[in-house]
Amino acid sequence: MGWNVFVTRLLPQRAMDLLKQECGTMDVNPHDRVLTREELVAGVKGRDGVLCLLTDAIDDEVFEAAGPQCKIFANYAVGYNNIDVEAARRRGVRITNTPGVLTDATADMAWALLFAAARRICESHNFLRAGQWGGWGPMQFLGQDITGRTLGVVGAGRIGANFALKSAGFRMKVLYADVEPNQELESKLNARRVPLDELLAQSDFVSIHVPLMPETTHLIGARELSLMKPSAVLVNTSRGPVVDEKALVEALREKRIAAAGLDAYEEEPATAPGLTELPNAVTCPHTASATVETRTKMAVMAASDLLAVLRGEEPQNVVV
Ligand code: DGY
Repeated sequence: MGWNVFVTRLLPQRAMDLLKQECGTMDVNPHDRVLTREELVAGVKGRDGVLCLLTDAIDDEVFEAAGPQCKIFANYAVGYNNIDVEAARRRGVRITNTPGVLTDATADMAWALLFAAARRICESHNFLRAGQWGGWGPMQFLGQDITGRTLGVVGAGRIGANFALKSAGFRMKVLYADVEPNQELESKLNARRVPLDELLAQSDFVSIHVPLMPETTHLIGARELSLMKPSAVLVNTSRGPVVDEKALVEALREKRIAAAGLDAYEEEPATAPGLTELPNAVTCPHTASATVETRTKMAVMAASDLLAVLRGEEPQNVVV
């Protein structure tokens, strides 16, 4: 009680109420934007706990600014590549994240992007709204069949596996690439674990679900894109730097692959030059977890873990 916490962006009300009930001081970023580095460093100063976002770079300088009394940074995201976990470990600061509650929403979004890209939804929607439609045409906006095709899932963890399982209704052949086998996918879908290159060469749809780490940075680059079928669709709802975005723009421009559905970018909020002019790229602003229910659950989860640590209890979702 009497704790002093900082929240780096206004979150769904239920989480704000939870924090208010137990904290003596709670300050929230007053702006509807990401804090500048200076604002972040000033904001964390002297706090017992901080609830932060994937858009905040939390490194040793930030831990230093917060001070030795600061016990926890609760990240409002499942991915925590924005946090220097080793620095937190060295300083004894707890880090938590929000796994599980956004699995369905993120997998659903990967499907939405796959459908939108494969069936050219955004392109044809814009065409109609621009008053260009002269009536039904046999060759208009021909896309790709989805049912019965081959789905390649890169990363078969929580979200990748959930995404793959949702393919059952579309009677797809499922390939996956992962460092670990996934028994559930193999038994329920007859999915086959294959090397990434084989997956890229054989799949009609490739969806990426790996965390961002040094090993997965530019996992999909010019070479990998060149292995894909010219009719293939690439979907990325993980982290932008997993895909070499400039190479992807080239591949899409030259129609070396048919289309892409993207929710994450290398230098958010910027996108690679030319990407948003391409008709065969569906581009969403990192909204895979953006449903009322999911964002509320994420906020409550992050706030609950922050409070647990301040009370001296073990948090539910420990990164470190
Ligand atoms: C995450 O949680 O890592 C997503 O990118 C945002 O919800």
